[in-house]
Amino acid sequence: MPKLEFPKGFLWGAATSSYQVEGGLHNEWTEWEKTTAVKRAKEAREESWHDSWRGYGKKERNPEFAEEASDPNNYLSGIACDHWNRYEEDFDILEELHLNTYRFSIEWSRIEPEEGRFDDEAIGHYKKMIASLRRRGVEPFVTLWHFWLPVWVAKKGGVASKKFPERFARYAERMAAAFGSDVKFYVTINEPDMYASFSYLLGFWPPEKRSLRLHYVVTKRIEQAHKLAYLKMKGIAPDTEIGITKQFMSFQVLRRTPISLLTRRFADWWWNYSLLDRLMGYQDYIGFNYYQKKIIGKDTRDQTSIVRTDIDWEYDPESIYDALIALKRYDMPIYITENGIADAFDRLRGRFITETLTSIHQAIKEGTDVRGYIHWSLLDNFELDKGFWPRFGLVQMEYATQKRTIRESARIYGKIAETNTLDG
Ligand code: BGC
Repeated sequence: MPKLEFPKGFLWGAATSSYQVEGGLHNEWTEWEKTTAVKRAKEAREESWHDSWRGYGKKERNPEFAEEASDPNNYLSGIACDHWNRYEEDFDILEELHLNTYRFSIEWSRIEPEEGRFDDEAIGHYKKMIASLRRRGVEPFVTLWHFWLPVWVAKKGGVASKKFPERFARYAERMAAAFGSDVKFYVTINEPDMYASFSYLLGFWPPEKRSLRLHYVVTKRIEQAHKLAYLKMKGIAPDTEIGITKQFMSFQVLRRTPISLLTRRFADWWWNYSLLDRLMGYQDYIGFNYYQKKIIGKDTRDQTSIVRTDIDWEYDPESIYDALIALKRYDMPIYITENGIADAFDRLRGRFITETLTSIHQAIKEGTDVRGYIHWSLLDNFELDKGFWPRFGLVQMEYATQKRTIRESARIYGKIAETNTLDG
């Protein structure tokens, strides 16, 4: 196969988020951890912890991670990767891997620990991080809100509160003013769909609500919050590129019956497009997070032959192509803002990256305007409700010593980034 070249100026990156890597935080989730760690470890011991998607995939436990997952400490974020203090070391790694963008998130609870009180020191710290990235020729891709809230926001009704859009937009505007022309790319809100579903419909994440009504309200508030923030930020920094990151799923049918086709159409509209459609006119690009496809109806494939990652998601570097092609309808630039796998022993990641990029390249060749690929994640990190055991990093973390080791797969990725080319 010939070499596959990516468009000139393509962004190659890796992503993290504050709570998952920074350490030393006090927010809604760090409070939640304290009251749920023991319970979650116990559930892991007793139940099919391996299958935290409840009902997705096989049921038996994966013995490789049982011990870690049964330990309450696994569910306490603590100092995590201590990225707050060690960011220079981590940025050295970005450079070593020839990456030219870094997606990270600003921790709202550090910036505005109490309503209306903005912390200049915390703002200064993020400014230093941004300056360091710029010096290294790495484009900062800045997320303003990635799932967790300052405690005061949560206490005042969280995202369901009527005041949420205003609160969020005030913070977002402040950030745009502080960073000025040093930041070009902003993600206002990470994966609104995941947040609304996991926090307000399925009750897996704080504030653990299970309500169709609240799910609707929260989705509405997020939409309002993004739009307001977009307008305010553009007022201050008109040259910035602002969007949300959306989690896309490719819905597939095994048998083309009228019912399965109709269900697919509905699922596509509900999960992939409805919010995006409503945000049109308030987005400068599509932030595309992609992890997996969903088969509609009874999955009749031979399950034993399906390769699975450590958290039981199907190894699937191909369906991203369908999800990208479907986005041609919007005629907008697309940045792949997350994509990756949990693979502690780096058995699959190298292959996953090259195969996924082959699919992406094909979508570009067929006219999809993809302008960047940002891998999740730069470092192994605190994987939300599952804690530390799932390992998504290009870089392996030894948490006790904070030692970082660049994985083989990261070298493969680094080579692609360096040459802007994939060996076919
Ligand atoms: C989230 C990340 C998370 C990743 C892997 C995404 O939905 O934005 O925070 O770590 O998925 O589960």
